Amino acid sequence: MNGYLNKSNFLMVEEGFTTRDLLENLLEELCQEVRAFFVADLGDIVKKHLCFLKALPRVKPYFPVKCNGSEGVIRLLAELGAGFACANKAEITQVQGIGVPADRIFYSSPCKQVAHIRYAAAHGVRLMAFDNEVELSKVARNHPRARMLLGITADSIPSAHPSMTFGTTLKSCRHLLETAKEQAVEVVGISFHLGSRGLEPQALAQAVATAQLVFDMGMELGHHMHLLDIGGGFPGTEDTRAPLEEIAAGINSALDLYFPEGSGVDIIARPGRYYVTSAFTLAVSITALEEIPVEQPGSDGSLVYHLSDGIYGAFSCLLFDSPCPRPQLHKVRKQPWHSSSLWGPPGHAEDRIADGLELPQLHVGDWLVFGNMGAYTIPTIPTSSLLTGGPQPQVTYAMARGQGWDPVGGAGFSSTWVPSCLWHCPTLLSWTWK
Ligand SMILES: Cc1ncc(COP(=O)(O)O)c(C=O)c1O
Repeated sequence: MNGYLNKSNFLMVEEGFTTRDLLENLLEELCQEVRAFFVADLGDIVKKHLCFLKALPRVKPYFPVKCNGSEGVIRLLAELGAGFACANKAEITQVQGIGVPADRIFYSSPCKQVAHIRYAAAHGVRLMAFDNEVELSKVARNHPRARMLLGITADSIPSAHPSMTFGTTLKSCRHLLETAKEQAVEVVGISFHLGSRGLEPQALAQAVATAQLVFDMGMELGHHMHLLDIGGGFPGTEDTRAPLEEIAAGINSALDLYFPEGSGVDIIARPGRYYVTSAFTLAVSITALEEIPVEQPGSDGSLVYHLSDGIYGAFSCLLFDSPCPRPQLHKVRKQPWHSSSLWGPPGHAEDRIADGLELPQLHVGDWLVFGNMGAYTIPTIPTSSLLTGGPQPQVTYAMARGQGWDPVGGAGFSSTWVPSCLWHCPTLLSWTWK
Protein backbone atom coordinates (compact mmCIF):
# COMPACT_ATOMS: atom_id res chain seq x y z
CA MET A 1 0.00 0.00 0.00
CA ASN A 2 1.32 3.41 -0.94
CA GLY A 3 -1.00 5.51 1.21
CA TYR A 4 -2.45 7.73 -1.54
CA LEU A 5 -5.90 6.15 -1.28
CA ASN A 6 -7.67 4.95 1.82
CA LYS A 7 -11.05 3.61 2.86
CA SER A 8 -12.41 7.08 3.57
CA ASN A 9 -11.94 8.14 -0.08
CA PHE A 10 -14.66 5.85 -1.50
CA LEU A 11 -17.67 3.70 -0.71
CA MET A 12 -17.05 -0.03 -0.62
CA VAL A 13 -20.13 -1.63 -2.20
CA GLU A 14 -21.13 -5.27 -2.33
CA GLU A 15 -20.09 -7.33 -5.34
CA GLY A 16 -22.83 -7.18 -7.99
CA PHE A 17 -24.02 -3.76 -6.81
CA THR A 18 -23.83 -1.58 -9.92
CA THR A 19 -23.09 2.10 -10.44
CA ARG A 20 -26.72 2.42 -11.51
CA ASP A 21 -27.91 0.96 -8.15
CA LEU A 22 -25.75 3.47 -6.32
CA LEU A 23 -27.01 6.30 -8.49
CA GLU A 24 -30.63 5.35 -7.77
CA ASN A 25 -29.91 5.41 -4.02
CA LEU A 26 -28.18 8.78 -4.29
CA LEU A 27 -31.06 10.22 -6.30
CA GLU A 28 -33.38 9.37 -3.41
CA GLU A 29 -30.98 10.95 -0.92
CA LEU A 30 -29.67 13.97 -2.79
CA CYS A 31 -32.39 15.07 -5.17
CA GLN A 32 -33.66 17.80 -2.84
CA GLU A 33 -30.18 19.21 -2.13
CA VAL A 34 -28.27 19.13 -5.42
CA ARG A 35 -29.09 19.56 -9.08
CA ALA A 36 -26.27 17.39 -10.54
CA PHE A 37 -23.79 14.77 -9.33
CA PHE A 38 -21.40 12.07 -10.56
CA VAL A 39 -20.97 8.46 -9.51
CA ALA A 40 -17.51 7.05 -10.22
CA ASP A 41 -16.67 3.36 -10.32
CA LEU A 42 -13.03 3.16 -9.21
CA GLY A 43 -12.98 -0.58 -9.93
CA ASP A 44 -13.47 0.24 -13.61
CA ILE A 45 -10.33 2.40 -13.55
CA VAL A 46 -8.34 -0.36 -11.84
CA LYS A 47 -9.38 -2.78 -14.60
CA LYS A 48 -8.43 -0.28 -17.31
CA HIS A 49 -5.02 0.22 -15.73
CA LEU A 50 -4.26 -3.47 -15.58
CA CYS A 51 -5.49 -4.04 -19.14
CA PHE A 52 -3.27 -1.18 -20.33
CA LEU A 53 -0.22 -2.73 -18.67
CA LYS A 54 -1.05 -6.08 -20.18
CA ALA A 55 -1.58 -4.70 -23.68
CA LEU A 56 1.45 -2.40 -23.61
CA PRO A 57 3.91 -3.98 -21.17
CA ARG A 58 6.78 -1.64 -22.12
CA VAL A 59 4.76 1.56 -21.76
CA LYS A 60 4.41 3.53 -18.52
CA PRO A 61 1.18 5.53 -18.33
CA TYR A 62 1.24 9.21 -17.29
CA PHE A 63 -2.36 10.28 -16.73
CA PRO A 64 -3.12 13.81 -18.08
CA VAL A 65 -4.62 15.60 -15.09
CA LYS A 66 -6.59 17.96 -17.36
CA CYS A 67 -8.66 14.93 -18.43
CA ASN A 68 -10.07 14.40 -14.93
CA GLY A 69 -8.52 16.11 -11.93
CA SER A 70 -10.98 14.75 -9.39
CA GLU A 71 -9.37 13.72 -6.14
CA GLY A 72 -10.49 10.08 -6.18
CA VAL A 73 -9.05 9.52 -9.66
CA ILE A 74 -5.73 11.17 -8.86
CA ARG A 75 -5.40 9.26 -5.56
CA LEU A 76 -6.31 5.92 -7.17
CA LEU A 77 -3.89 6.33 -10.08
CA ALA A 78 -1.14 7.43 -7.70
CA GLU A 79 -1.84 4.30 -5.63
CA LEU A 80 -1.65 2.13 -8.75
CA GLY A 81 1.74 3.61 -9.61
CA ALA A 82 0.87 5.72 -12.65
CA GLY A 83 2.69 8.96 -13.46
CA PHE A 84 0.96 12.29 -14.16
CA ALA A 85 1.12 14.66 -17.12
CA CYS A 86 0.46 18.16 -15.83
CA ALA A 87 -0.39 21.16 -17.99
CA ASN A 88 0.37 23.91 -15.46
CA LYS A 89 1.39 24.86 -11.94
CA ALA A 90 -2.10 24.21 -10.49
CA GLU A 91 -2.01 20.59 -11.68
CA ILE A 92 1.55 20.06 -10.41
CA THR A 93 0.52 21.50 -7.03
CA GLN A 94 -2.53 19.23 -6.90
CA VAL A 95 -0.57 16.06 -7.66
CA GLN A 96 2.34 16.93 -5.35
CA GLY A 97 -0.26 17.91 -2.72
CA ILE A 98 -1.19 14.24 -2.25
CA GLY A 99 2.47 13.26 -2.07
CA VAL A 100 3.34 12.16 -5.62
CA PRO A 101 7.12 12.52 -6.05
CA ALA A 102 8.47 14.91 -8.68
CA ASP A 103 10.01 12.11 -10.77
CA ARG A 104 6.51 10.80 -11.54
CA ILE A 105 5.41 14.14 -12.97
CA PHE A 106 5.76 15.25 -16.61
CA TYR A 107 5.10 18.97 -17.15
CA SER A 108 3.81 18.21 -20.62
CA SER A 109 2.42 21.51 -21.88
CA PRO A 110 4.50 22.83 -24.79
CA CYS A 111 3.59 26.44 -23.84
CA LYS A 112 4.50 27.30 -20.28
CA GLN A 113 4.38 30.51 -18.25
CA VAL A 114 7.79 31.53 -16.91
CA ALA A 115 6.42 31.59 -13.34
CA HIS A 116 5.21 28.00 -13.80
CA ILE A 117 8.59 26.87 -15.17
CA ARG A 118 10.26 28.38 -12.09
CA TYR A 119 7.71 26.63 -9.89
CA ALA A 120 8.53 23.30 -11.54
CA ALA A 121 12.26 23.97 -11.04
CA ALA A 122 11.76 24.82 -7.36
CA HIS A 123 9.66 21.68 -6.80
CA GLY A 124 11.95 19.21 -8.53
CA VAL A 125 9.82 18.58 -11.64
CA ARG A 126 12.37 18.09 -14.40
CA LEU A 127 10.64 16.32 -17.28
CA MET A 128 9.10 18.86 -19.66
CA ALA A 129 8.21 19.31 -23.34
CA PHE A 130 9.00 21.96 -25.95
CA ASP A 131 8.42 22.45 -29.67
CA ASN A 132 9.88 25.87 -30.49
CA GLU A 133 12.82 28.20 -29.81
CA VAL A 134 10.94 30.65 -27.59
CA GLU A 135 9.96 27.86 -25.22
CA LEU A 136 13.49 26.50 -25.28
CA SER A 137 15.06 29.79 -24.21
CA LYS A 138 12.47 30.27 -21.44
CA VAL A 139 13.53 26.89 -20.07
CA ALA A 140 17.27 27.60 -20.57
CA ARG A 141 16.96 30.76 -18.47
CA ASN A 142 14.64 29.46 -15.76
CA HIS A 143 15.18 25.72 -15.31
CA PRO A 144 18.79 24.63 -15.85
CA ARG A 145 18.06 21.07 -14.64
CA ALA A 146 15.12 20.45 -16.99
CA ARG A 147 15.04 17.24 -19.04
CA MET A 148 13.24 18.07 -22.27
CA LEU A 149 11.22 16.03 -24.74
CA LEU A 150 11.03 17.54 -28.22
CA GLY A 151 7.42 17.46 -29.46
CA ILE A 152 6.96 16.42 -33.08
CA THR A 153 3.74 17.21 -34.88
CA ALA A 154 1.31 14.70 -36.29
CA ASP A 155 1.63 16.72 -39.52
CA SER A 156 5.10 15.13 -39.92
CA ILE A 157 3.35 11.77 -39.87
CA PRO A 158 1.42 10.81 -43.02
CA SER A 159 -2.08 9.44 -42.27
CA ALA A 160 -2.25 11.02 -38.81
CA HIS A 161 -4.89 13.59 -37.97
CA PRO A 162 -3.33 17.06 -38.52
CA SER A 163 -2.36 18.63 -35.22
CA MET A 164 -3.00 22.30 -34.59
CA THR A 165 -1.71 22.43 -31.09
CA PHE A 166 1.46 20.49 -30.52
CA GLY A 167 4.74 19.62 -32.11
CA THR A 168 7.30 20.84 -34.59
CA THR A 169 7.84 19.57 -38.12
CA LEU A 170 10.50 17.03 -38.94
CA LYS A 171 12.30 19.75 -40.93
CA SER A 172 12.73 21.98 -37.85
CA CYS A 173 13.94 19.25 -35.49
CA ARG A 174 17.67 19.50 -36.30
CA HIS A 175 17.72 23.26 -35.77
CA LEU A 176 15.89 22.96 -32.43
CA LEU A 177 18.18 20.17 -31.25
CA GLU A 178 21.24 22.27 -32.21
CA THR A 179 19.84 25.33 -30.43
CA ALA A 180 19.18 23.24 -27.32
CA LYS A 181 22.81 22.08 -27.37
CA GLU A 182 24.06 25.69 -27.71
CA GLN A 183 21.87 26.77 -24.78
CA ALA A 184 22.97 23.77 -22.67
CA VAL A 185 19.42 22.42 -22.43
CA GLU A 186 19.31 18.65 -21.93
CA VAL A 187 17.05 16.95 -24.51
CA VAL A 188 16.28 13.38 -23.45
CA GLY A 189 13.78 12.24 -26.04
CA ILE A 190 10.79 12.75 -28.30
CA SER A 191 7.09 13.24 -27.66
CA PHE A 192 4.03 13.10 -29.89
CA HIS A 193 0.25 13.08 -29.50
CA LEU A 194 -1.81 12.04 -32.50
CA GLY A 195 -5.09 13.48 -31.22
CA SER A 196 -8.17 11.90 -29.78
CA ARG A 197 -10.37 11.25 -32.82
CA GLY A 198 -9.70 7.53 -32.99
CA LEU A 199 -6.09 6.39 -33.04
CA GLU A 200 -5.08 4.58 -36.21
CA PRO A 201 -2.57 1.77 -35.48
CA GLN A 202 -0.81 2.58 -38.77
CA ALA A 203 -0.38 6.27 -37.92
CA LEU A 204 1.06 5.34 -34.53
CA ALA A 205 3.55 2.97 -36.12
CA GLN A 206 4.54 5.73 -38.55
CA ALA A 207 4.96 8.18 -35.68
CA VAL A 208 7.28 5.77 -33.85
CA ALA A 209 9.37 5.45 -37.04
CA THR A 210 9.57 9.26 -37.38
CA ALA A 211 10.57 9.55 -33.71
CA GLN A 212 13.44 7.15 -34.35
CA LEU A 213 14.81 9.43 -37.09
CA VAL A 214 14.76 12.34 -34.64
CA PHE A 215 16.39 10.19 -31.94
CA ASP A 216 19.28 9.53 -34.33
CA MET A 217 19.53 13.25 -35.10
CA GLY A 218 19.64 14.10 -31.38
CA MET A 219 22.29 11.50 -30.61
CA GLU A 220 24.41 12.72 -33.51
CA LEU A 221 24.33 16.17 -31.90
CA GLY A 222 25.39 14.77 -28.53
CA HIS A 223 22.03 14.56 -26.70
CA HIS A 224 21.50 11.51 -24.51
CA MET A 225 18.16 10.40 -26.01
CA HIS A 226 16.47 7.71 -23.93
CA LEU A 227 12.74 8.53 -23.54
CA LEU A 228 9.87 8.27 -26.03
CA ASP A 229 6.39 9.62 -25.25
CA ILE A 230 3.67 8.23 -27.51
CA GLY A 231 0.91 10.57 -26.22
CA GLY A 232 -2.76 9.82 -25.59
CA GLY A 233 -5.88 9.22 -27.61
CA PHE A 234 -6.52 5.59 -26.55
CA PRO A 235 -10.26 4.76 -26.69
CA GLY A 236 -12.32 5.21 -23.52
CA THR A 237 -15.27 3.07 -24.56
CA GLU A 238 -15.66 -0.20 -26.42
CA ASP A 239 -17.64 1.15 -29.39
CA THR A 240 -14.57 2.45 -31.24
CA ARG A 241 -13.13 1.64 -34.65
CA ALA A 242 -9.90 0.20 -33.24
CA PRO A 243 -9.99 -1.31 -29.73
CA LEU A 244 -7.02 -0.98 -27.37
CA GLU A 245 -5.71 -4.45 -28.21
CA GLU A 246 -5.51 -3.64 -31.94
CA ILE A 247 -3.83 -0.29 -31.33
CA ALA A 248 -1.44 -1.92 -28.85
CA ALA A 249 -0.45 -4.64 -31.32
CA GLY A 250 0.57 -1.93 -33.82
CA ILE A 251 2.52 0.02 -31.20
CA ASN A 252 4.29 -3.04 -29.81
CA SER A 253 5.53 -4.18 -33.21
CA ALA A 254 6.68 -0.64 -34.08
CA LEU A 255 8.51 -0.41 -30.75
CA ASP A 256 10.15 -3.80 -31.33
CA LEU A 257 11.29 -2.61 -34.75
CA TYR A 258 12.48 0.92 -34.00
CA PHE A 259 13.18 0.89 -30.24
CA PRO A 260 13.77 -2.78 -29.40
CA GLU A 261 14.06 -3.97 -25.84
CA GLY A 262 17.65 -3.45 -24.75
CA SER A 263 17.96 -0.24 -26.81
CA GLY A 264 17.99 1.71 -23.54
CA VAL A 265 14.88 3.70 -24.47
CA ASP A 266 12.00 3.94 -21.96
CA ILE A 267 8.50 4.43 -23.34
CA ILE A 268 5.73 6.48 -21.76
CA ALA A 269 2.18 7.39 -22.88
CA ARG A 270 -0.49 9.89 -21.78
CA PRO A 271 -3.77 7.97 -21.85
CA GLY A 272 -6.55 10.24 -20.55
CA ARG A 273 -10.03 9.31 -21.77
CA TYR A 274 -9.01 5.62 -21.85
CA TYR A 275 -8.77 5.50 -18.06
CA VAL A 276 -11.80 7.46 -16.95
CA THR A 277 -14.54 7.75 -19.61
CA SER A 278 -16.56 4.65 -18.72
CA ALA A 279 -16.06 4.94 -14.96
CA PHE A 280 -18.18 8.07 -14.51
CA THR A 281 -21.95 8.46 -14.73
CA LEU A 282 -23.56 11.89 -14.44
CA ALA A 283 -27.05 12.66 -13.15
CA VAL A 284 -28.43 16.12 -14.00
CA SER A 285 -31.83 17.64 -13.48
CA ILE A 286 -34.03 19.69 -15.76
CA THR A 287 -34.30 23.25 -14.50
CA ALA A 288 -36.34 24.91 -17.25
CA LEU A 289 -38.35 24.08 -20.35
CA GLU A 290 -39.06 26.17 -23.43
CA GLU A 291 -41.48 25.40 -26.21
CA ILE A 292 -40.20 27.33 -29.18
CA PRO A 293 -43.02 27.95 -31.66
CA VAL A 294 -42.38 26.47 -35.12
CA GLU A 295 -43.09 29.86 -36.67
CA GLN A 296 -40.07 31.38 -34.84
CA PRO A 297 -37.06 31.78 -37.22
CA GLY A 298 -34.50 28.98 -36.75
CA SER A 299 -36.92 26.83 -34.74
CA ASP A 300 -37.39 23.17 -35.69
CA GLY A 301 -40.31 22.83 -33.31
CA SER A 302 -38.22 20.95 -30.73
CA LEU A 303 -38.80 21.16 -27.03
CA VAL A 304 -35.81 22.82 -25.37
CA TYR A 305 -34.82 21.54 -21.93
CA HIS A 306 -32.32 23.50 -19.85
CA LEU A 307 -30.17 21.30 -17.61
CA SER A 308 -28.48 22.25 -14.36
CA ASP A 309 -25.04 22.00 -16.01
CA GLY A 310 -23.68 22.70 -19.47
CA ILE A 311 -20.56 22.99 -21.63
CA TYR A 312 -18.83 25.26 -19.09
CA GLY A 313 -19.08 22.47 -16.54
CA ALA A 314 -19.80 18.75 -16.75
CA PHE A 315 -20.43 18.84 -20.52
CA SER A 316 -17.10 20.51 -21.34
CA CYS A 317 -16.21 17.10 -22.87
CA LEU A 318 -18.06 18.35 -25.98
CA LEU A 319 -15.17 20.76 -26.53
CA PHE A 320 -12.66 17.85 -26.47
CA ASP A 321 -13.67 15.69 -29.41
CA SER A 322 -16.08 13.64 -27.28
CA PRO A 323 -19.20 12.26 -28.93
CA CYS A 324 -22.53 13.90 -28.16
CA PRO A 325 -23.84 12.30 -24.96
CA ARG A 326 -27.12 10.34 -25.08
CA PRO A 327 -29.23 10.56 -21.95
CA GLN A 328 -31.06 7.76 -20.23
CA LEU A 329 -34.23 8.71 -18.44
CA HIS A 330 -34.37 8.19 -14.72
CA LYS A 331 -38.12 7.50 -14.76
CA VAL A 332 -39.84 6.62 -18.01
CA ARG A 333 -43.40 7.90 -18.21
CA LYS A 334 -46.01 7.07 -20.79
CA GLN A 335 -46.01 10.53 -22.39
CA PRO A 336 -46.05 11.64 -26.00
CA TRP A 337 -42.57 11.66 -27.54
CA HIS A 338 -41.13 14.86 -29.01
CA SER A 339 -38.09 15.99 -30.88
CA SER A 340 -36.07 17.59 -28.08
CA SER A 341 -32.83 19.41 -27.48
CA LEU A 342 -30.78 19.77 -24.32
CA TRP A 343 -29.11 23.02 -23.31
CA GLY A 344 -27.08 24.20 -20.33
CA PRO A 345 -28.37 26.75 -17.83
CA PRO A 346 -30.26 29.62 -19.55
CA GLY A 347 -28.28 32.65 -20.68
CA HIS A 348 -25.60 31.26 -23.02
CA ALA A 349 -26.71 30.84 -26.61
CA GLU A 350 -23.74 28.57 -27.40
CA ASP A 351 -24.38 26.21 -24.48
CA ARG A 352 -26.08 23.52 -26.54
CA ILE A 353 -25.52 19.93 -25.38
CA ALA A 354 -27.57 17.74 -27.74
CA ASP A 355 -30.08 18.21 -30.55
CA GLY A 356 -32.57 16.06 -32.37
CA LEU A 357 -33.26 13.63 -29.52
CA GLU A 358 -36.57 11.80 -29.40
CA LEU A 359 -37.67 11.99 -25.77
CA PRO A 360 -40.96 11.59 -23.93
CA GLN A 361 -42.36 14.81 -22.49
CA LEU A 362 -40.19 15.72 -19.47
CA HIS A 363 -40.81 18.11 -16.61
CA VAL A 364 -38.82 20.54 -14.51
CA GLY A 365 -37.21 18.54 -11.70
CA ASP A 366 -36.88 15.32 -13.77
CA TRP A 367 -33.44 13.71 -13.83
CA LEU A 368 -31.41 12.55 -16.82
CA VAL A 369 -28.54 10.10 -16.55
CA PHE A 370 -25.48 10.16 -18.84
CA GLY A 371 -22.98 7.29 -18.96
CA ASN A 372 -19.35 7.50 -20.13
CA MET A 373 -18.88 10.95 -18.60
CA GLY A 374 -15.42 10.64 -17.00
CA ALA A 375 -13.23 12.50 -19.50
CA TYR A 376 -12.97 16.30 -19.72
CA THR A 377 -16.04 16.78 -17.53
CA ILE A 378 -14.40 17.94 -14.29
CA PRO A 379 -12.33 21.12 -14.60
CA THR A 380 -9.19 21.12 -12.40
CA ILE A 381 -9.67 24.81 -11.77
CA PRO A 382 -13.34 25.34 -10.86
CA THR A 383 -15.13 27.51 -13.41
CA SER A 384 -17.03 30.56 -12.27
CA SER A 385 -20.44 29.81 -10.88
CA LEU A 386 -21.66 32.66 -13.10
CA LEU A 387 -20.96 30.39 -16.09
CA THR A 388 -22.11 27.06 -14.71
CA GLY A 389 -25.00 28.49 -12.74
CA GLY A 390 -23.98 26.67 -9.56
CA PRO A 391 -21.29 24.66 -7.75
CA GLN A 392 -19.46 21.81 -9.52
CA PRO A 393 -21.30 18.50 -9.24
CA GLN A 394 -19.95 16.39 -6.39
CA VAL A 395 -18.47 12.96 -7.11
CA THR A 396 -19.30 9.82 -5.11
CA TYR A 397 -16.57 7.20 -5.61
CA ALA A 398 -17.32 3.51 -5.21
CA MET A 399 -15.49 0.23 -5.59
CA ALA A 400 -17.11 -3.19 -5.37
CA ARG A 401 -15.79 -5.63 -2.83
CA GLY A 402 -13.57 -8.14 -4.62
CA GLN A 403 -12.23 -5.61 -7.10
CA GLY A 404 -8.80 -5.63 -5.59
CA TRP A 405 -9.02 -3.50 -2.49
CA ASP A 406 -8.35 -5.46 0.69
CA PRO A 407 -11.24 -4.54 2.95
CA VAL A 408 -9.49 -5.83 6.10
CA GLY A 409 -8.16 -2.61 7.50
CA GLY A 410 -8.11 -1.05 4.01
CA ALA A 411 -4.66 -2.40 3.49
CA GLY A 412 -4.44 -1.51 -0.20
CA PHE A 413 -4.75 -3.66 -3.30
CA SER A 414 -4.58 -7.33 -2.44
CA SER A 415 -1.96 -9.28 -4.31
CA THR A 416 -4.26 -12.28 -4.77
CA TRP A 417 -6.84 -10.45 -6.85
CA VAL A 418 -6.57 -10.82 -10.60
CA PRO A 419 -9.19 -9.32 -12.94
CA SER A 420 -10.30 -11.38 -15.93
CA CYS A 421 -8.18 -9.37 -18.37
CA LEU A 422 -5.07 -10.50 -16.51
CA TRP A 423 -5.70 -14.17 -15.92
CA HIS A 424 -2.67 -15.01 -17.98
CA CYS A 425 -0.51 -12.22 -16.68
CA PRO A 426 -0.70 -11.93 -12.87
CA THR A 427 2.89 -10.75 -12.58
CA LEU A 428 1.78 -7.33 -13.78
CA LEU A 429 0.14 -6.80 -10.43
CA SER A 430 3.55 -6.32 -8.94
CA TRP A 431 4.37 -3.52 -11.42
CA THR A 432 6.12 -0.76 -9.54
CA TRP A 433 7.62 2.61 -10.32
CA LYS A 434 11.31 2.61 -11.00
C1 LIG B 1 -1.14 16.99 -25.84
C2 LIG B 1 -2.14 16.01 -25.30
N1 LIG B 1 -1.72 14.84 -24.80
C3 LIG B 1 -2.57 13.93 -24.32
C4 LIG B 1 -3.92 14.15 -24.30
C5 LIG B 1 -4.82 13.06 -23.78
O1 LIG B 1 -5.70 12.64 -24.77
P1 LIG B 1 -6.80 11.51 -24.49
O2 LIG B 1 -7.63 11.96 -23.35
O3 LIG B 1 -7.57 11.43 -25.77
O4 LIG B 1 -6.04 10.25 -24.19
C6 LIG B 1 -4.39 15.35 -24.82
C7 LIG B 1 -5.81 15.63 -24.84
O5 LIG B 1 -6.27 16.71 -25.23
C8 LIG B 1 -3.47 16.32 -25.33
O6 LIG B 1 -3.88 17.48 -25.86
